[in-house]
Amino acid sequence: TGAISYDPGYGSTGSCKSEITFIDGEKGILRYRGYPLEQLAEGVSFEEVMYLMIWGKLPNQAELDGFNAKLAEHAELPEGIVAVLDNLPKNAHPMTVMQTLVATLGDYYEPADEETDIIRLLAKSKALAAYSYRKQTGKEYLKPSKGASFAGDFAHMTFGTSDEYKVSDVLEASLDSLFILHADHEQNCSTSTARMIGSAQASLYASISGAIGALSGPLHGGANQKVIEMLENIRAEGRSLEDHIELVKDKSSDVKLMGFGHRVYKNFDPRARILKKSADELFADLGVEDPALDLAKELEKVALEDEYFVKRRLYPNVDFYSGTIYRALGIPTNMFTVMFVLGRLPGWIAQWKEMRDDADQRIHRPRQIYIGENERNVTPISER
Ligand code: CMC
Repeated sequence: TGAISYDPGYGSTGSCKSEITFIDGEKGILRYRGYPLEQLAEGVSFEEVMYLMIWGKLPNQAELDGFNAKLAEHAELPEGIVAVLDNLPKNAHPMTVMQTLVATLGDYYEPADEETDIIRLLAKSKALAAYSYRKQTGKEYLKPSKGASFAGDFAHMTFGTSDEYKVSDVLEASLDSLFILHADHEQNCSTSTARMIGSAQASLYASISGAIGALSGPLHGGANQKVIEMLENIRAEGRSLEDHIELVKDKSSDVKLMGFGHRVYKNFDPRARILKKSADELFADLGVEDPALDLAKELEKVALEDEYFVKRRLYPNVDFYSGTIYRALGIPTNMFTVMFVLGRLPGWIAQWKEMRDDADQRIHRPRQIYIGENERNVTPISER
């Protein structure tokens, strides 16, 4: 096995060359196609970021109008998909619903060119997500609205009371910037999954469905749901933050501080910084108070003063504050990771497309270090 290097979790393996996202984990820098995240979050719409991710440039007005028109044209779900949704168990987790529906979406159409598949998936994702919420709450499905933004249309189909489009500006703007903050993060677990599946030349739908499965895990996107559940738990049990930290530090407890730590960021996660600030602004704007936000801030403080976290360079990541914002916006806890899906879709698609266009790429096929038995002989069952 001399030529094979052992790298569990691929911490030091570059699996591809990519032009999409740059991260400097020491300095806390994140750029999409060279543009700093902070500038994009302030200055452009999620639709522009989708376009940037997938086609490599910020669109001009005509390009953006054309893109929006195509998204509007493809926004409705085929009836068959809605029937599949209706037949899933009522308590199916919205992430399972998303993964299932994305996997089968392509089957409702004749095979199409790559761009049509991409537009179709982006355009329909907001109805898939919104309808998973309507189903679990037993509400009728609302139609997509022409002329609405991606974030606004999702919000309307999720919370609306009739087909007449109506969404508050704060809700629309908050979702839009949350989606931008989640739009890509280079070779994380779900993105690598999308590339892995796509490397076998499986379809876009198969690849993205697999990525959604990976994202649902509590160490990845599922952490945003787990953070709120952790905060709720601490409150319900009346546990002090110091006691909770002690529990986390006790390796035999198997309890992690959810929303803390990152493979790449070792000083701070720029997304968490932006989110903490947005949470403060949004709560002031909406005039709401949530003890979970105060608790999260306290917990951050206690953790950052503790030797265990300092030594291991563990800081709040993107999932630490996003849940408090989703909650203030009225999004139920089990939908948090679906919000991550909507934001991350353009990143997954861009990475999948880049992999397909890259002449160097071949089927992803890691090797292993075999540590099992040497050759041995089978004994008859009566002698085992
Ligand atoms: N709480 C307690 N200890 C931790 C945590 C945590 N959240 N994160 C890392 N550690 C410890 C870990 O036990 C290890 O300790 P030791 O050296 O004594 O064995 C040390 O820090 C290094 O951690 P690691 O597990 O080698 O780090 P990793 O790069 O393999 O894992 C991670 C990264 C994000 C999976 C991990 O930090 C974690 O499980 N965090 C909690 C879940 C979470 O918030 N996930 C969201 C990640 S960010 C965005 C996303 O993907 O959604």
